[in-house]
Amino acid sequence: MPFRPRYTGLIDKYRDRLPVPDDARVISLGEGNTPLIRLNNIPRKIGKNVDLYVKFEGLNPTGSFKDRGMTMAVTEAVEQGSQAIICASTGNTSASAAAYAARAGIQSFVLIPDGKIAMGKLAQAIMHGARVLQIEGNFDDGMRLVKELAAHAPVTIVNSINPYRLQGQKTAAFEIVEELERAPDFHCLPVGNAGNITAHWIGYCECSGRGEGALTQACSFCKGSCRYASAIVGDRPVMVGYQAAGANPFLRGEMVDEPDTVATAIRIGHPQSWDQAWAASRESGGWFDQFEDSEILTAQRLLADHDGVFCEPASAISVAGALRDIRSGRIPEGSTVVCTLTGHGLKDPDVAIRQAGDAIVKVAAELDAVKRAILDRL
Ligand code: F0G
Repeated sequence: MPFRPRYTGLIDKYRDRLPVPDDARVISLGEGNTPLIRLNNIPRKIGKNVDLYVKFEGLNPTGSFKDRGMTMAVTEAVEQGSQAIICASTGNTSASAAAYAARAGIQSFVLIPDGKIAMGKLAQAIMHGARVLQIEGNFDDGMRLVKELAAHAPVTIVNSINPYRLQGQKTAAFEIVEELERAPDFHCLPVGNAGNITAHWIGYCECSGRGEGALTQACSFCKGSCRYASAIVGDRPVMVGYQAAGANPFLRGEMVDEPDTVATAIRIGHPQSWDQAWAASRESGGWFDQFEDSEILTAQRLLADHDGVFCEPASAISVAGALRDIRSGRIPEGSTVVCTLTGHGLKDPDVAIRQAGDAIVKVAAELDAVKRAILDRL
């Protein structure tokens, strides 16, 4: 067996492609290295011949892709001597910021919207010792306040306007290219603040030799034994971004003041990476599309029920979108498609349980009653 060092997080693995000083104290929880799961049952169900994968970012340490960016942002904040970090968040960024701040031994402040935050995310921020400020407004109000505040207080912003966040998040594209030994034809993902679509595009551009930090050498993790060593690929995927119909600035072509959707993670009307996301879409030949809440929840259920992957509602929009575009032929048969599942379904148990329908049956604690209830379904 060739020697493989223990996986210790994405900064250690991709150090030569990330702006981290050699002697930096790395703040990591072992983020990244998430599974790329090939869906079997859903493509068969829709009768289309596609290679459909989900990149399950819900398996990061705090249950969302935010950890990829947070290891970078907090490592850099500590490097700069910062004693506190701050973010506005629909939930996942706050959970991640709080965890990485705890790991670093610094304070975190998180501004979350009034209501409409998934309970799992709130629990995380509290447990990791964040000072949680529930503002009487939405995410966009929180973002505005954080930017104003950071100009007056010694706190580092760790929202995706912090460029280190996107640097960390680009590594998801590295992992996909490494595993497929090529870029996918299409990459589908939810779009809220639009940092992640931007970060993926940076990552794919670097893999194709076209980005700023284009890969020129073997990865520092394995010193050349992994497949990534030869993974400069000439092609890049078409980037497809999906939004909730009630929070759809990229569909409208302008900011939305009162965003609303069951997918609270992407309840955002004023995305910060507006220009970058348009550039990713344009340069890749991609598009944006939108979905009603009911369609988002149907996709979430389908994925959990048919392929065993439980993601949060915002994440499911990538699968809803891919399936619609595969069915219509906009994504042609024979394509390799990757959907990012940005967060774990356990983040938002309330929304899942509200859809329970007849999944929960009350029975007497007697053998006959249990038998009847089981035979009913066999
Ligand atoms: N999916 C999930 C689960 C998210 O939490 C987010 C963003 C997105 C998708 C959209 O990604 O903003 O890069 O376009 N959540 C942020 C937060 C805004 O505060 O947790 P994006």
